[in-house]
Amino acid sequence: MRLIVGISGASGVVMGYALLKAFREAGVETHLVVTEAAEKTLACETSLRAEDLKGLADAFYDPRDMAARIASGSFASDGMIVIPCSMKTLAGIVSGYADNLMLRAADVCLKEGRKLVLVPRETPLSLVHLRNLKAAAEVGCAIVPPMLTFYGGADTVGKQIDHIIGKIFLQFGLAYKNSTSWNGV
Ligand SMILES: Cc1cc2nc3c(=O)[nH]c(=O)nc-3n(C[C@H](O)[C@H](O)[C@H](O)COP(=O)(O)O)c2cc1C
Repeated sequence: MRLIVGISGASGVVMGYALLKAFREAGVETHLVVTEAAEKTLACETSLRAEDLKGLADAFYDPRDMAARIASGSFASDGMIVIPCSMKTLAGIVSGYADNLMLRAADVCLKEGRKLVLVPRETPLSLVHLRNLKAAAEVGCAIVPPMLTFYGGADTVGKQIDHIIGKIFLQFGLAYKNSTSWNGV
């Protein structure tokens, strides 16, 4: 499987890092684009650098490089995940305003009918955000917000992230080794 991973500047860029690690362990080929704002958030929230993210991906692209492979529908992929997805990037996706490589890659997924999974992160959500999320669902995006989970012993941030990664894996028919599925009571 070959997937594009976009990391935008919302809080929780560490979720993108964890997803890249999980994909690498699962043998998924990843093509990564990190926005400039995401690099800033990475510096604010973690001790990671963009190089740490790059090292986990099979290919890494400059967000300004509109001539990169992932900017074209002729680059075959099984879809894309934007994690975390900022409200600005969400707005860009639903309006078709593809002014950076990540937005263009997402736009390509939509026009080619490929799976586009968004992990939107903001709170509280304004009516603008909610309208944009509705618009994203209407054009076929899967919306997987990083909601807190209280079952399955998810009592640390790491386990909460694992739960989200498990939900993203499910979108692509994959099983994530560190998440448990609900088996009833
Ligand atoms: C530490 C930090 C946390 C942020 N958290 C969020 C957030 O949770 N959600 C959001 O939509 N924007 C958040 N922002 C603002 C975005 O980074 C900003 O809107 C940026 O323009 C997004 O650009 P991008 O979508 O191209 O990455 C945050 C910014 C910083 C510096």
